[in-house]
Amino acid sequence: MPTRLLLFPLLAFALACPLAAAPAPVSTDPAEVAARLAAIRTPPAPATPRINGARVVGARPEKPFLHRIPTTGERPLRWSVRGLPRGLELDPDTGIISGVTPAKKGTYTLRLRASNALGKTSAELDLVVGDTLALTPPMGWNNYNAFRLRISDSLIRAQADALVSSGLADHGYAYVNVDDAWEGVRAADGSIQGNERFPDMAALGAHIHSRGLKFGIYSSPGFETCGGFVGSLHYEEQDARAFASWGVDYLKYDWCSYIVDAGRLAADRHAELLPAHADRLRSLAAEYGPMRNDRRRPRPPEMSARMKEIEAEQKRLLSAIPAETLLAIERDIAVDAYRAMGRALEASGRDIVYSLCQYGEARVWEWGPEVGGHLWRTTRDITPRLSAILGIVNRQKGLEKWAGPGRWNDPDMLEIGNGALTPDEMHMQMTQWCVLAAPLLIGTDLTRLDPLVLGILANHEVIAVNQDRLGRQGWLLRKTGDAEIYVKPLEGGRWAVALFNRGEKPLVITFDRAELKLPAAAAVRDLWRQKDLPPSAPVTFVVAARGAEFVSVNPGEK
Ligand code: GLA
Repeated sequence: MPTRLLLFPLLAFALACPLAAAPAPVSTDPAEVAARLAAIRTPPAPATPRINGARVVGARPEKPFLHRIPTTGERPLRWSVRGLPRGLELDPDTGIISGVTPAKKGTYTLRLRASNALGKTSAELDLVVGDTLALTPPMGWNNYNAFRLRISDSLIRAQADALVSSGLADHGYAYVNVDDAWEGVRAADGSIQGNERFPDMAALGAHIHSRGLKFGIYSSPGFETCGGFVGSLHYEEQDARAFASWGVDYLKYDWCSYIVDAGRLAADRHAELLPAHADRLRSLAAEYGPMRNDRRRPRPPEMSARMKEIEAEQKRLLSAIPAETLLAIERDIAVDAYRAMGRALEASGRDIVYSLCQYGEARVWEWGPEVGGHLWRTTRDITPRLSAILGIVNRQKGLEKWAGPGRWNDPDMLEIGNGALTPDEMHMQMTQWCVLAAPLLIGTDLTRLDPLVLGILANHEVIAVNQDRLGRQGWLLRKTGDAEIYVKPLEGGRWAVALFNRGEKPLVITFDRAELKLPAAAAVRDLWRQKDLPPSAPVTFVVAARGAEFVSVNPGEK
């Protein structure tokens, strides 16, 4: 039952199993290489300049600002910007805008230009200085899916460099997010620092920023993280100040070890609901406290065993509470825990995107924004198997009404390039994440990308659906057997329509413009292949087994 899981998210250490979901081996077998090349749908980006990515970016007043204008095209490129407010400047050779945002709230329309030996292009970018960050779903990379807890400063730097050299940054991927396992012990004054594999967090941040990219980090509202590293409980403000001083732009805050604290809080605040058990819950928490604070690693086996017993007993005691009541208690506790860091981040002096990671429990989408969150996990950890991915997708239904600019449902990171996902399955995940307006956090090893994986991750028309300014999350319009059709409204009266085949055989899937009350002549474009389709109704594809097709429909001038 889901409501039990917030207090007892699967065992913390099980969640953080250190086995990496191995990136798919880059095959040298000629037949396999040929098959993967044949599966590429995305046309190569032209050598002439093209400005990609979101057309709107949010920032708070008087905050450090960094934006790399995502541009494809042959190098060298040069950029210029008109309409930059005072305090911001452009490096014309890198296309990186940096400085401090203006004090005055409002929309500043920046006119971007990029040119190279072959041509020039322009685009507008609205810088909205206000209260909201993440006006479009965050895009970037996170180490966890490919490397789990086996990370280091040099690994992260190499991945940041590869985000640029692969061309992915030219499509809008900007965050380089360090997940769990960077944390060292606290110093005597309580300050957090990196462990021996992360000797200088500020220098790492500076390296990432020097590429025009943004620096993400990870912590927990509990005493320790899912991987058993130190968490931020009782150090929220101090940690937020440290993160800001390192130049952090994004925090993933992962519930895990709040387990027994949450049990004690439940007993303290809702003793009336637990008349028989409140004292026992408090004494369990009191016994647990010193053990969790014991810094010996590995823990003595008898201590670990006792901690597990306590967790199990607490779970048993709380399971006596009716589900609805438990949900209310969980919500209360989680709101407080997440709000503490939300406030600390807001006071930190930097714009830090706040990602809540508690697996969708306690209906986080209802209260995420209220604690300062910009995105929240809706489900448990993803794995690189289509069945796991589709299970997660099923659980997004009905959540679309909670998403919008600055508030995103997060079905977890991309597995494209990992495990044994087939080319069609990888197209399926990317299509699904784009139509759902999900955060696009790449989870594979960027130093080993093959052209197929790169093509799936770097299709600017597909990404444009995800980054559309309306910020609407798409929804399931129709399901017929294994065929599912998702739709997402886009700026300018256009729609994105995604056709999924969940079955084991190719399937003819037809979409009729009338299903969206669009005129029969509305123009349809194949987004993956970047081609207009002949004007005919209805739109019909033979969709590959466990695969997807993706189109936009444009009714034209109104
Ligand atoms: C949990 C999260 C993962 C990852 C690990 C790190 O399992 O859901 O995304 O952050 O913790 O330990």
